Amino acid sequence: MSDITPTSAERAAKLEGMGCKRKRVEDIRFTQGKGNYVDDIKLPGMLYGDFTRSPHAHARVKKIDTTKASALPGVVSVITAETLKTVNLAWMPTLAGDVQMVLADGKVLFQNQEVAFVIAEDRYTAADAAELVEVEYEALPCNVDPLKAMAKDAPVIREDIKDKKEGAHGPRKHYNHIFNWQAGNKAAADAAFAKADVTIKEMIVYPRVHPCPLETCQCVASFDKVKGELTLYGTFQAPHVIRTVGSLISKIPEHKIHVIAPDIGGGFGNKVGAYPGYICSIVASIVTGRPVKWTEDRIENLSTTAFARDFHMETEIACTRDGKILGLRCNTIADHGAFDACANATKWPAGLFSIISGSYDIPAAHVSVDGVYTNKAPGGVAYRCSFRVTEAAYAIERAMDIMAQKLGMDPADFRMKNLIRREQFPYTSAFGWVYDSGDYQTALQKAMQAVNYSKLRAEQAQRQEAFKRGETRELMGIGVIFFTEIVGAGPSRNCDILGIAMFDSAEIRIHPTGSGICRLGTKSQGQGHETTYAQIIATELGLPADNITVEEGNTDTAPYGLGTYGSRSTPVSGAATAMACRKIKAKAQMIAAYMLEVHDDDLEWDVDRFRVKGNPERFKTMTELAWAAYHEVPPGMEPGLEAVDYYDPPNFTFPFGAYVCVVDVDVDTGMIKVRRFYALDDCGTRINPMIIEGQIHGGLTEAFGIAMGQEIHYDDDGNVTTASLMDYFLPTAVETPHWETDWTTTPSPHHPIGAKGVGESPNVGGVPCFSNAVNDAFKFLGSTHIQMPHDNWRTWMAADKLGLHQ
Ligand code: CDP
Repeated sequence: MSDITPTSAERAAKLEGMGCKRKRVEDIRFTQGKGNYVDDIKLPGMLYGDFTRSPHAHARVKKIDTTKASALPGVVSVITAETLKTVNLAWMPTLAGDVQMVLADGKVLFQNQEVAFVIAEDRYTAADAAELVEVEYEALPCNVDPLKAMAKDAPVIREDIKDKKEGAHGPRKHYNHIFNWQAGNKAAADAAFAKADVTIKEMIVYPRVHPCPLETCQCVASFDKVKGELTLYGTFQAPHVIRTVGSLISKIPEHKIHVIAPDIGGGFGNKVGAYPGYICSIVASIVTGRPVKWTEDRIENLSTTAFARDFHMETEIACTRDGKILGLRCNTIADHGAFDACANATKWPAGLFSIISGSYDIPAAHVSVDGVYTNKAPGGVAYRCSFRVTEAAYAIERAMDIMAQKLGMDPADFRMKNLIRREQFPYTSAFGWVYDSGDYQTALQKAMQAVNYSKLRAEQAQRQEAFKRGETRELMGIGVIFFTEIVGAGPSRNCDILGIAMFDSAEIRIHPTGSGICRLGTKSQGQGHETTYAQIIATELGLPADNITVEEGNTDTAPYGLGTYGSRSTPVSGAATAMACRKIKAKAQMIAAYMLEVHDDDLEWDVDRFRVKGNPERFKTMTELAWAAYHEVPPGMEPGLEAVDYYDPPNFTFPFGAYVCVVDVDVDTGMIKVRRFYALDDCGTRINPMIIEGQIHGGLTEAFGIAMGQEIHYDDDGNVTTASLMDYFLPTAVETPHWETDWTTTPSPHHPIGAKGVGESPNVGGVPCFSNAVNDAFKFLGSTHIQMPHDNWRTWMAADKLGLHQ
């Protein structure tokens, strides 16, 4: 062999497989403005739809007069609930087992609710005509406070079900009650509290926020009357689910519905559900016989399509005097708005909220969640989190700090004392979740050393003395958190949506020349799937990542999948991709054995080839085997080299992380400077470290937005006061702090490549870390808990309440 023969390591590097900081292939088109988004789709004869929306939060609709709107030149049709009733589509089912008005049917239940849909030759005419629809309303008393929703005299939000004692998730105890869901062992938790030395109890509120993707929700519906087929382009995180739901609602056979999700500009959960805009566009296309486009504007996006959080969590911890946690309790009121359109797996009306015991070895725990109706927009999606995990992480991490404060312990020491130990994995939590793997102490220690934690605390102590002496008006806060996520929904025993198990899929076809295509049921919205799935295939099959096309978002070509949200792509479809590769590789091995005239077992894999054991000069590369698969297969074997895998994960994956944040708070202005933010993440095997870093940066920036200023706020009359980017804080590069990222690697034992999800970790861990830092700054003055968001005004108010402005 000549010495220019590349080594195994050199051949592996050329593949750009797992572990490589491969540049994002999709960015070639994105950075040149050559992406293809829904708004780029222009079909011949296309019409445009726009909504007339309710100015009231709660009102009876006495009359809708569409005469003036219909008379405007360019208007083709105006649809109301009465029109939709003729096709039985005035109401639609939600993912949570409720029903939701498509267009106002007798009442409006939240501000900006859809009342009429105007279809016109261009978007401007549609918008003008929407203003001309005349609606007579009779205002009704409204309620936007979830804590008052079940009061005796609370306004009846849902007249359609007011007498129903049973909902989709069990008994209802009030006309505005949706469900009560409990997990854990109440008796054991109560017993732990009874014997505890120290307890804390705090109402921890995670306000209503919104995923606010840069691209709003939109679609183009095109119904072909001759073929009886519907093509629906849209911003869909879960295209197959949209196809199935679309078929069930419209009664168009599923094989005659073609759902295409082109490039998507951010989703973060907002683009999971089905919205009135989609239904109205489909009906409008059927009615007019022409394609119809619907595009949300920013106000519509922030005020009507799915919000996130709005969890009001009374959280309690019980401890021994020396800081060992004995128990946890949490009673939560979840505000779902006017309809329960929450996106969760069917059996979990409060999602995976029971991950609330976090990263700690807590022997007894219990949670109870009551969902309630209010006069707010429906939704309740996992905004860059896995089904309510962010709410859980926020509650436990704030509560941990509050308990440490009461015990007089350092919050990092208190966490270290209670973290689940490495030897306890696989660890079964008090809620029954089996955490797959972890090495928490190592991660926290690494984080403490990286930021020089003890030095920071010493500096803080000095600064506090200086503050007391009046030498400074700035407070220093140090936030420490440790989070555990539960991602990869999910195992069919736990998770389904409308009865469809939450498996996912990959179909890989290797072409004769050794290139190939991989099609998946997931859908990237910016996560870089075209880059990373190809890296898994490169390592598994020994073919260069550059030779693999990754295609998602077309229900006609992709195998059935449940879509991308809840960091499930890597845990579920990443696994399906590896398993499909292994099926292909097994066939390739048989072809290689036949060609090399040896038994299958006499071959071993070496990066990109099968070679004869003990005789490495004799080998067949995967590229050679691809060619052979199309003309030289063993007798009796069918030609071709492809496989499909539907992967039902045996368990979730449990990524984790240790974050530290340092802030300086000016008590006279309420201004908060983030001096430092350090994020250590462990997502198991890392496919693309550069993409992971990008995911962490993005998620931390969103967490910064949430913790420091985001809230979808309603006034007492139900007016949403934060429905534009003038009022809803979306951080830009100017405000965004510098991020320091780090990692440890603890592979998942049940995932074929050991990978866990990562996309949402920084949002889950980031929010409590910022909030703990701000709260930590005020702690030495006796403050226990300041609610998010920590904007200047609220921070100034917190300082004021502590008497700092006298
Ligand atoms: O479902 P979603 O794509 O939002 O989340 P994810 O599975 O956490 O993946 C986000 C991005 O990070 C994808 O491009 C993944 O391939 C990449 N990733 C990675 O490189 N290594 C991991 N262990 C996990 C994710």
